[in-house]
Amino acid sequence: MRDQQASFTASWVAGWRGLGSLLGDARIADDPYGARFGGRWARALARAGAQPAVRAGLIRLPQVASWVGYMQVRTRLFDDQLRSFLAAGGRQIVILGAGYDCRAARFADRLAGARVFEVDHPATQARKRAVLDEVGASPAVTYVAWHFERRPLAELPGALAELGLDVRRPTLTIWEGVTMYLSPEAIDATVAATRALGGPGTRLVFNYLTRDMLERPRGLRRLAAAAVARVGEPFTFGWHPPALPAWLEARGWKLTGDRDLAEAALALLPRFVAARVDASDRHIAVAEKI
Ligand SMILES: C[S@@+](CC[C@H](N)C(=O)[O-])C[C@H]1O[C@@H](n2cnc3c(N)ncnc32)[C@H](O)[C@@H]1O
Repeated sequence: MRDQQASFTASWVAGWRGLGSLLGDARIADDPYGARFGGRWARALARAGAQPAVRAGLIRLPQVASWVGYMQVRTRLFDDQLRSFLAAGGRQIVILGAGYDCRAARFADRLAGARVFEVDHPATQARKRAVLDEVGASPAVTYVAWHFERRPLAELPGALAELGLDVRRPTLTIWEGVTMYLSPEAIDATVAATRALGGPGTRLVFNYLTRDMLERPRGLRRLAAAAVARVGEPFTFGWHPPALPAWLEARGWKLTGDRDLAEAALALLPRFVAARVDASDRHIAVAEKI
């Protein structure tokens, strides 16, 4: 991403995450901060959608249903991994490339007694902190500014240990919306570093694009790829799903789950929204340290 600027894509996805409100009672994830981070367009849609009749019309617009549905299912699957880790007794969470992920605030009750570390590009993190200040939210987070392509990720476990992470205890790393923007070297370094963030029971949850989508984008995907490239955050990396288990195992991780988002949307969302989530080439994977 461009060096001095806060991430545009982080703002975009946060806006759509917040607009889950357009689903009313059918929403499967709630982010009251998202629209604020999305900017004017997201706040305007959220305001308009506060009226039930307008909301019902907005959510039926194909592009709105598609983005809201995609972010709902993505957010929910990551949220479920956080819940599952906490239920198993985990108390250390690292959010890599946190952007405007407000899980620390959204799950403040369940996270009581846990440590949350957010690691992100300095410019994005600065904007996040400023906006949270403006809205009067102060989640219990340890913020760590880091440029993934500049500062070696191998230094991350040591840096977080100095801030209080116990690398002998289980750690959940949430790596949402990041892998597609990194170089193969940064991917490898991150996967190695996250393994060193905790002891037995350590988990990694991340989403990814299939390599087919990157290499042979079809239809609207071509437009999406061009749009993110234009804002300085081109898609660069993906995996072939069948190759992922062996790829992870070679790096000391066992794949425990891998779902495509179109299938998950059909299982979780109202049919008219799920039908718009054309995301079988976008996956969420969960791995456990071997
Ligand atoms: C699409 S956003 C995802 C944000 C958040 N995880 C979410 O899902 O809402 C990508 C995030 O990766 C971060 N990022 C991208 N390239 C980075 C780099 N080279 N160093 C540090 N962070 C980077 C951006 O700052 C941004 O927060």
